[in-house]
Amino acid sequence: MKKALNIGIAGCGYWGPNLARNFSAHPAAEVTALCDPDPERLAHMRGLYPQAALFEDFARMLRDAALDAVVVATPVRTHFVLARAALLAGKHVLIEKPMASSSEECEELIALAAARGLTLMVGHTYLYSEPVRKIAEIIRSGGIGELKYINCQRLNLGLFQKDINVAWDLAPHDLSIILHVMGECPQLVNCQGNAHIHPGIEDVTNLSLTFRKHRFATVQSSWLEPRKVRQMTFVGTHKMIVYDDLQPLEKIRIYDVRVECPPHYDNFAEFQYSYHYGDCYLPRIKQSEPLKNMCAHFVDCVCDGTRPLSCGVRGLEMVRILEASSESLLAQGGPVPFASGRLEALSGEPEALDEGLPSLSGVL
Ligand SMILES: NC(=O)c1ccc[n+]([C@@H]2O[C@H](COP(=O)([O-])OP(=O)(O)OC[C@H]3O[C@@H](n4cnc5c(N)ncnc54)[C@H](O)[C@@H]3O)[C@@H](O)[C@H]2O)c1
Repeated sequence: MKKALNIGIAGCGYWGPNLARNFSAHPAAEVTALCDPDPERLAHMRGLYPQAALFEDFARMLRDAALDAVVVATPVRTHFVLARAALLAGKHVLIEKPMASSSEECEELIALAAARGLTLMVGHTYLYSEPVRKIAEIIRSGGIGELKYINCQRLNLGLFQKDINVAWDLAPHDLSIILHVMGECPQLVNCQGNAHIHPGIEDVTNLSLTFRKHRFATVQSSWLEPRKVRQMTFVGTHKMIVYDDLQPLEKIRIYDVRVECPPHYDNFAEFQYSYHYGDCYLPRIKQSEPLKNMCAHFVDCVCDGTRPLSCGVRGLEMVRILEASSESLLAQGGPVPFASGRLEALSGEPEALDEGLPSLSGVL
């Protein structure tokens, strides 16, 4: 049986092989070309994918391999040039996060994909994970009351990047989840951080996002931590959710806890916070690899012409927030105003999905 989509993967470093593994396991896709300027990485991949054509040069891969789609899993500084060349060559494109080095680059890619009717998707992998899907479902159904605050910690030792700071490297995961469940962009972005190892490249950052209706989120990112931490807390007016992505099974705990202030009081003696301590509940979560779901969603979107959940516009929103974080870092954490709400798809893009989750039927 002929496979539907011929896919070429650029970048065979740490992450590219994971994309190659998931696309090659998809029944409607085939990894027919791999590209990396590093011959050692190509030699490694030859052993895993003997059927794939290998290229050290991206332009040659575009010219010589009969590809339908290209996956860009290279350092961020190269994303724009490679994705642009692929779109100009008529290929659908999946770019790893963050989408590009600047919002201007993202805008150009979005316009190019829209003008040519091609799928452009960004690797916001966590949007395709079962725990995040469950959390979004609970929050949207009012399961924790009104969402007020999100706190995220993504900490570990390294891996130090040469072209981006830790906020651009790690915070996109948290930001994609925050924007998804908040359903909008923030009004203000503040970021503080410090470069301890490599001058000019912050290895610890604290990002805060102020949303409408007094909603708030904080994101702590670090390459200088002995322990690996992947935690998020979602605070609602009635309940709180703790998401620990390092737990093998019990990744989400819903705590029936809240703090209430008395509506009015006449003197200090009458003023008392009321702390509610209820039960803790662990929802059952299906086991599936987020990257497998993401790759399947890309294949579906290319085949159906539907707009991906993590489309180019979502990638642009993320890069704008990262740019605001860099601006705030230069101002020692000063607030950078941001246009809240969500960016709309450009006219000419295929039909947008509604703000809910994508249909992952058949892949979960
Ligand atoms: N979604 C996720 O969870 C996730 C996880 C890790 C990394 N990433 C993203 O994946 C991308 C790659 O990260 P990584 O950790 O694999 O980096 P890496 O440095 O380990 O690998 C990058 C590879 O790209 C190759 N490369 C450089 N220029 C190239 C070009 N012009 N054409 C083809 N190949 C080229 C390099 O030789 C290297 O082998 C980054 O955008 C990163 O943010 C995403």
